[in-house]
Amino acid sequence: MKLETRLPDPGPEETAVSARLLARIQQEIHAAEGFLPFDRFMELALYAPDLGYYVAGAHKFGREGDFVTAPELSPLFGACLARQCAAVLQAGGEGIIEFGGGSGRLALSVMQALHNLGQHDFRYAIVELSPELRARQRDLIAREAPELLAHLEWWQGPPATPWHATVLANEILDAIPVSCFSLDEGAILERGVGVEVAGTLTWRTRAAPAALASAVEAVLPLAPADYPPEWGSEIALRLPAFMADLSRFVARGAVVLADYGYPRAEFYHPDRAQGTLQCYYRHRVHADPLWMPGIQDITAAVDFTAVAEAAHEAGWTIAGFAEQAQYLMACGITDLLTARMQASPEEAERTARAVKRLLLPQEMGTRVKMMTLTRDYTGAVPGYDLRDARHRL
Ligand SMILES: C[S@@+](CC[C@H](N)C(=O)[O-])C[C@H]1O[C@@H](n2cnc3c(N)ncnc32)[C@H](O)[C@@H]1O
Repeated sequence: MKLETRLPDPGPEETAVSARLLARIQQEIHAAEGFLPFDRFMELALYAPDLGYYVAGAHKFGREGDFVTAPELSPLFGACLARQCAAVLQAGGEGIIEFGGGSGRLALSVMQALHNLGQHDFRYAIVELSPELRARQRDLIAREAPELLAHLEWWQGPPATPWHATVLANEILDAIPVSCFSLDEGAILERGVGVEVAGTLTWRTRAAPAALASAVEAVLPLAPADYPPEWGSEIALRLPAFMADLSRFVARGAVVLADYGYPRAEFYHPDRAQGTLQCYYRHRVHADPLWMPGIQDITAAVDFTAVAEAAHEAGWTIAGFAEQAQYLMACGITDLLTARMQASPEEAERTARAVKRLLLPQEMGTRVKMMTLTRDYTGAVPGYDLRDARHRL
């Protein structure tokens, strides 16, 4: 069955949005003599000014959007993360910096939980490039808890002086553009995007440039020749720059990362032959990032060993690594759930269902991993008392 026949019809408005971005991408492919490296394609598809998926007006989050993230499911996710924020505040921190604030739900739930923990003196900065999302986040807080607006500020880049703070980054690393490669009898090829005569996008390969080839050689647990024929995957060459950039936001404190991903040996396992790219459109998941650029999300799973290496290189300590279920349980999510059971039966039922999705292995429980980084910080690092899997990195 053709992919398009399985996905909901985008309709004329979204088709027009995608056509504009497609024209922009085609231009760049022609200028690049027919081959656009995949990381540049992903950058344009998600972040091209005015047209990219995260910049233009697509609804994205929640039931009416394309996918659901943990903060959308339940405020208890944010209440668990708030424990780290509270610990850094107790150690003298000035606030919280959230990367990519989505619908604003994480900010709302973290700030509410901090108030419940008796913390009222903090600043909460959201690093958000999309003006449309900034407005949406402000509207949500204004509607649901206007008294919290006083804590909030929005940034487009680092502050003049890096903060003593907690950084929260939920599903940010999986939105960093990745390079794609495949193996052909031991040779490393780069996968990129070209245009067919009819104007449609298509995959192309070329011999990997030296920097990509040596980065790939360095991460594969086996020699390239030992992988099955046509094996391919992704590598996030932009991760070290992201980690180095973090230091411009925060000088001391903790960083809590939550993302779909694996330690390296699992990520580059010979059995994972198709790589990890996943695309989301109206709650359908598929693996064709070239379909209708600009109206669907494109993600790649995270190699947490690479995150740990890049973080270490940038001066961070890897303070804990665990599956989301273990992390949330160590942060007391079951007690928080019990407290919520006093609410109306509908609310109790809704919360129980959401917590199941956060914890069950076939949902987010094991597929999402949590990692906490620290620097110049000796306070508490909640979330790893049940299991700390740093040895798997
Ligand atoms: C899958 S969404 C997650 C949104 C939200 N954190 C949530 O959990 O609902 C990924 C977000 O990461 C943002 N993002 C990617 N790289 C970023 C960066 N360097 N700084 C800030 N936001 C970034 C994107 O703009 C996008 O809004």
